[in-house]
Amino acid sequence: MHVSTYCGWILIIVTISFASPTKPSTGCGYTACNLGDPTKLNVHIVSHTHDDVGWLKTIDQYYYGSRNNIQHAGVQYILDSVIRALDENADRRFIYVEIAFFWRWWNEQTDAMRNKVREFVNDGRLEFISGGWCMNDEAATHYNSIIDQHSLGAEFLRDQFGECGRPKIGWQVDPFGHSRDQGSLLAQMGFDGLFQGRVDYQDWQTRNRTKTMEMVWKTSTNLGNQSWLFTAILRDEYSPPDGLCFDDSCSDPPIMDDPRLHDYNVPERVQAFIQASRDQAAGYATNHIISPMGADFHYENANEWFKNLDKLIKYVNLEQANGSNVNTFYSTPSCYLYALNKAGRTWTTKTDDFFPYADRPHGFWTGYFTSRPALKLYERHSNNILQITRQLNAFSNSQLRDSIFVLSEAMGVVQHHDAVSGTEKQEVAFDYAQRLSVGIDNAIRVINKAFDKLLPKDTQPAPGPQFLCQVTNISECLPIQDQTRFTLTLWNPTVHPVLQHYRVPVTRSYTVRDPTGQPILSELIPVSNATKKIPGRTSTAGNQLIFRANLPALGFNTYLFEAKTTEENQEPKVKITQNAECILENQNIRVEIDAQGNLQHIVNLRKSVDVSFSSQGFYWYQGFAGNNSHPEFQASGAYVFRPLTQTAEPVSQTRTVTCIKALSVQIAVIIFNDWASQEISLYDEAQHVEVEWTIGPIPVNDNIGKEIIIRYDTDIQSQAKYYTDANGREVLERIRDYRPTWNYTILEPVSGNYYPINSRIWIKDQNRQFTVLTDRSEGGASLHDGSVEIMLHRRLLYDDDLGVSEALNESAFGEGLVVRGRHSLVVDASATSARIHRVSAQNMYMHPLAVYSLTQQTFANYSAAYRLTWSALTDVLPLNVHLLTLDQLGSKDYLIRVEHYFEMNEDDTYSHPVTIDLQSILKSIGTITNTVELTLGGNLPLAELQRLNWVTSDKESSHATDHKEPSLNDTSVRLTPMQIRTFQVTVA
Ligand SMILES: *[C@@H]1O[C@H](CO)[C@@H](O)[C@H](O)[C@H]1NC(C)=O
Ligand SMILES: *[C@@H]1O[C@H](CO)[C@@H](O)[C@H](O)[C@H]1NC(C)=O
Ligand SMILES: [Zn+2]
Repeated sequence: MHVSTYCGWILIIVTISFASPTKPSTGCGYTACNLGDPTKLNVHIVSHTHDDVGWLKTIDQYYYGSRNNIQHAGVQYILDSVIRALDENADRRFIYVEIAFFWRWWNEQTDAMRNKVREFVNDGRLEFISGGWCMNDEAATHYNSIIDQHSLGAEFLRDQFGECGRPKIGWQVDPFGHSRDQGSLLAQMGFDGLFQGRVDYQDWQTRNRTKTMEMVWKTSTNLGNQSWLFTAILRDEYSPPDGLCFDDSCSDPPIMDDPRLHDYNVPERVQAFIQASRDQAAGYATNHIISPMGADFHYENANEWFKNLDKLIKYVNLEQANGSNVNTFYSTPSCYLYALNKAGRTWTTKTDDFFPYADRPHGFWTGYFTSRPALKLYERHSNNILQITRQLNAFSNSQLRDSIFVLSEAMGVVQHHDAVSGTEKQEVAFDYAQRLSVGIDNAIRVINKAFDKLLPKDTQPAPGPQFLCQVTNISECLPIQDQTRFTLTLWNPTVHPVLQHYRVPVTRSYTVRDPTGQPILSELIPVSNATKKIPGRTSTAGNQLIFRANLPALGFNTYLFEAKTTEENQEPKVKITQNAECILENQNIRVEIDAQGNLQHIVNLRKSVDVSFSSQGFYWYQGFAGNNSHPEFQASGAYVFRPLTQTAEPVSQTRTVTCIKALSVQIAVIIFNDWASQEISLYDEAQHVEVEWTIGPIPVNDNIGKEIIIRYDTDIQSQAKYYTDANGREVLERIRDYRPTWNYTILEPVSGNYYPINSRIWIKDQNRQFTVLTDRSEGGASLHDGSVEIMLHRRLLYDDDLGVSEALNESAFGEGLVVRGRHSLVVDASATSARIHRVSAQNMYMHPLAVYSLTQQTFANYSAAYRLTWSALTDVLPLNVHLLTLDQLGSKDYLIRVEHYFEMNEDDTYSHPVTIDLQSILKSIGTITNTVELTLGGNLPLAELQRLNWVTSDKESSHATDHKEPSLNDTSVRLTPMQIRTFQVTVA
């Protein structure tokens, strides 16, 4: 089957219809590369612009070039200007990276212009590199959204440019450190290599000294050679050599080459380039080097860059007549990579990642792992809605992919390395949130259309409008407040049934009926004072009604709520005690909290594993208040975490504890002070403990910036080791004060040990493992054996001088921002029992979506008209399989990604390969008639993928076990640990 025929949203979004079909490729691809002169030092000049998808200005301000008083930058002019400049000289090459901008520009172009651009692409003169919607951040992103943002760009490029537009090379030149799973995902997208701009300065110096700037990165402990990715580190981030910047934002001398005129400078300019090339070559392994010529928002006047580069290339090469060995030419990252590949040599390998990143002593960029924690959660929340909306669209055959595009596009933008990272100006952070909000509004329309089809039995009219209550985390849902009847429909996006206790903020008491009509246990838990005083909360709900939902796999249940009359108004008695010992216990776990509110033990009763706590709670670091004039004066800011002292202080000396015992949940509400509290909840039958933390407004009236952590000090003998995940997938071992690949000089004992936590961190000893799961990306460390700390919120008064020029001092409702979040704690045996944390983490990021609707109907009437329960699955799918993507592409075509989300050897039962039948997921949609396996990005049949071969210094070949999965003659799919497989299926 041919995959590249459908392009649903393009047809709708792009108003100008398709121009003449793309001409067959003549000059794109490796075969058209200039590979230089084997006897010379070949300098590959790469003309590029680094266009941030929002940072100091919003993406659209950058696109149009508005508000140039903040930063002079206008991407529309860059693209206009580059195309003109390419037209003037066929030797010139340009690469373009950020499809969020290119798409904006493309929508405005005439057919004639589009055809010209297609010719440039077909001739290899314009090359898309990376080709994601943005250049995504790697520390605060989740794999689901990294894959989506790359797929969004790749789909656009495939539809508009075909094979010559297919990105093959990663270009992560500005992200602030690099995750191993980013490399793994790019390899699975079929990329041949990756360029990085920022690695730790100690790492860079070591590699420069040992000529190991380029390597084979083994990015997965599970996926073998197919996850190897050739990785190259650039000379100086992505900047041109000193003194050789020819943009109109630079002031280096141009090439003045008419000897009749004053200031003739060709010899000096040529020597400057030759010297810079030789300096760079000293740290690189071959007689090829790559020289990025461009920087942030360069080429607005492309003529200036290109005219000088034309001359520079000419005069540098003329110098060969005088014995120079430097040969330079316009090239691309692909052609440079191909030249290295053809060099026929072997490469060192790397198996760890590139975190954390320091650009100078005391400058550890570990603050952004946590910066803007509310935006970081909103991004995850939006992804949950996006994935569920796609599922609902598919199962209802609503064909509203163009409406979902608004949220997909916003999510693509928010993955940018100054977006979800939290390193943008405040106004820009608001713009990102607004984009997500508008995207969600569009998604809600799709959700409504879908439920209009899924809920009614037969030909009943649709039920009333369905709405979300997006701030139930502060016990607020205004549309249902005081209502006598409403429905709550919970959609479970996972392929396994889930048991979830749900909390609904209420002002009165209700009978809750499950899909069979039975009233079910529901209990009223008082809304805490800490919640009631959260700024902006207007709800008068004094209670949360808690009930248990047993949801079917990949489907929904509807619960009908009917207000109780006063006579029947008897809830089971909830027992509340204050400042007394509080023991939370269910079938699986016991949590012991003393009368002073100190967590003392968590016991896994089934495994007899007891973790005791010497302390647990909130602490704060004082952010360094420097002027950044020297590394020693580095301030703590949006990027950098730099504490003044290396010890965190407790936020309070005492705390109060309120113990709430209901049948469905037992809760300890622990108040530390008037801006820090936690609720520790143990639900009936749960296998993990939930900690809901609330921080803020962080007081700064003492003029001290504060960085708030939660810390768990246990008796686990962790021996300096701790474990953190990469983008929600594979877990890496961390060793305190240690780097696996160089002799590390410690300058920041706290910050230098922080790593990104996207979903989990754990410590363990012989028999016990203590895991903390997070609801968003955060930074954390283990600074002492047995201790885990996670940074939750940061309020700082100084800028860290990395461009933002604002202190990270978020406020809302006229006060410092209050942030609330959740951790799940898992206490388990340490060997081969990953099930609870893997399953819990998957259910945390793909939790059920709650949609509400007001109704006047009794249960009898409602159930006569509407389905109350439905599942897409009739077969039980194995527990270790996750449905990562279900996206309806066209009336009969679906993109589907399934994954095995356990690692090898981490669980006795679930770490084995599994086989599933895709048909069982699509049974309710139809019979699968055709299946084509695609690369992870969804833009190429896997059978057509050919990656370059690389050989390591141990003489291993990256092709050694590069096996293609056997082509499917039926719809069964085998998955090995951590494997994701992507299919386009056609259904009859
Ligand atoms: C890289 O290494 C080369 C060769 O040892 C050296 O000359 C050069 O100064 C180094 N570059 C930097 C920036 O340290
Ligand atoms: C909550 O606040 C109310 C009113 O200020 C007070 O009476 C009550 O004791 C507080 N509850 C707790 C658990 O502190
Ligand atoms: Zn950038």
